[in-house]
Amino acid sequence: MYRSHNCGELRINDINKEITLAGWVQKSRDKGFMVWVDLRDRYGITQLIFDESRSDAALMQLAKSLGREFVIQVKGTVIERESKNTVIPTGDIEVLVKELTILNTSIVPPFTIEDDTDGGEDIRMKYRYLDIRRNPVRNSLLFRHKVTQEVRNYLSNLDFCEVETPYLIKSTPEGARDFVVPSRMNPGQFYALPQSPQTFKQLLMVAGMDRYFQIVKCFRDEDLRADRQPEFTQIDCEMSFIDQEDILDVFEGLTRHLLKKIHQIEIDKFPRMTFEEAMRKYGNDKPDIRFGMEFGELNNVAQHKEFSVFNSAELVVGIAVPNAAAYTRKQIDELIEWVKRPQVGASGMVYCKCEEDGSYKSSVDKFYDQDDLANWAQITGAQKGDLILILSGPANKTRAQLSALRMELGNRLGLRKPHEFAPLWVVDFPLLEWDEETERYHAMHHPFTSPKPEDIHLLDSEPGNVRANAYDLVLNGNEIGGGSIRIHDKETQALMFRHLGFTAEEAQEQFGFLMNAFQYGAPPHGGLAFGLDRLTAILGGQETIRDFIAFPKNNAGRDVMIDAPSIIATTQLDELSIALNVK
Ligand code: AMO
Repeated sequence: MYRSHNCGELRINDINKEITLAGWVQKSRDKGFMVWVDLRDRYGITQLIFDESRSDAALMQLAKSLGREFVIQVKGTVIERESKNTVIPTGDIEVLVKELTILNTSIVPPFTIEDDTDGGEDIRMKYRYLDIRRNPVRNSLLFRHKVTQEVRNYLSNLDFCEVETPYLIKSTPEGARDFVVPSRMNPGQFYALPQSPQTFKQLLMVAGMDRYFQIVKCFRDEDLRADRQPEFTQIDCEMSFIDQEDILDVFEGLTRHLLKKIHQIEIDKFPRMTFEEAMRKYGNDKPDIRFGMEFGELNNVAQHKEFSVFNSAELVVGIAVPNAAAYTRKQIDELIEWVKRPQVGASGMVYCKCEEDGSYKSSVDKFYDQDDLANWAQITGAQKGDLILILSGPANKTRAQLSALRMELGNRLGLRKPHEFAPLWVVDFPLLEWDEETERYHAMHHPFTSPKPEDIHLLDSEPGNVRANAYDLVLNGNEIGGGSIRIHDKETQALMFRHLGFTAEEAQEQFGFLMNAFQYGAPPHGGLAFGLDRLTAILGGQETIRDFIAFPKNNAGRDVMIDAPSIIATTQLDELSIALNVK
């Protein structure tokens, strides 16, 4: 037996017990006649004591030779500590060691294995196995496990069956680039790694599985951000004989279950907002509704004077920043510079201070009188003491810019409280989205999403106005999940492909398997996928998913620990019939 207990469980009522522990040396303090060692494992830290008066010389010698991160096993007696440590649960006791075995030595780690480590991001990623020894990272992984387990319990109890789908598949269009895998046995041909198991889960519905889920890796070759990884995990689900309401019910239930089990928080029915309303009120399809600062559209009250910037704009829109009227010129200039950064892209910003005495002071006083400014305040909901910030320009761009500013201010003003949870369903997404680059429509969610029956007649005349039975779950300003009711008949699916610019042959070639399957009695179906990494991070009060993934990639998509991706041998390339053309 390696150990009788772990390093986190001994307490005052274990005193006098003879125990065996194993773990890592967190640190040791050598006072000459006494040596204390903090022994660490996944469960906690237990203090060991070696005492000249009670231990033999050889044991003392060995204890003094211990270095950081040595792996040891000790046998000894639990005793009460003279000076107790109230910070850790094992702080009332220590173990008087009688036998010490060094199971393995360690070279000096490249950073300290402490909660606040001296190691930078790069070095911690290179030695991720050491990073995971630190409490914050290990706890994030344990937290993820708990979330995953609760998800499995919840869905299994509702008759969802976990089915694994293949990783070597044919490319599915979900908007990102595919990672591809060459096939040795089929020279010149490639598998694609799934961006999601979308078509397979639909085929499982045709197959009569009725309720499917899978906690599954997905792969997308897209630019990385704090909330994106090239391989990430979805809680992927699909249901048959349901409508949108049934799906929202099940997954609202799942989210509520998680909030209750993990944070003991009870949330009533989740609010809902249409895509159109979200864009209008927050300039964003994933609004953070933990705080206000809703957009006020000012065209009607700002385009009647000589201010040509506003007069020529498609949209004039503002937000009221609470208690910010006292901002200095310097602070406001800094905000103006912030929105002018290329990442945001505004050309300028107008402001209006709502003074405590009820008067208004704006940067465009030359053009607007106090009554005009009072209208601005009324529309943006500004109170005395608030600061109105206004952007103008093309509608979509301006909304996106103001949304970025709203989020930035939400962060700066501490309005985005990590342990407050504000879920929101965003519904009625447009079916199609115009892509400036390729000058054609793309499916906003994916091509299998069903248009709202009442909007189908607009497909030819106003494709951009067709709404879909598509929905996202937003939590604290992050898109946690998305899904839709699917097309389940061959004709509508073919119509959809035609509108996406596929010829009948191309559609047959790429998606014949799905459309053929639809001919064999496909049930009405729909589903959704949550991003597990994001969900876990948000529930854990963070927005960066990296620390909730055991072995994440860096911003360049590299695993710096194993040094991937990497060059492969010419013989391997030859086997795959691949000739490289790398400049
Ligand atoms: P969608 O593309 O919206 O839908 O993805 C579902 C959820 O997955 C998460 N997600 C990501 N998380 C981390 N890194 C990424 N690169 C990444 N990309 C997406 C998000 C997102 O909401 N097949 C459909 C689902 C369906 O229709 O049922 C799909 O994949 O949280």
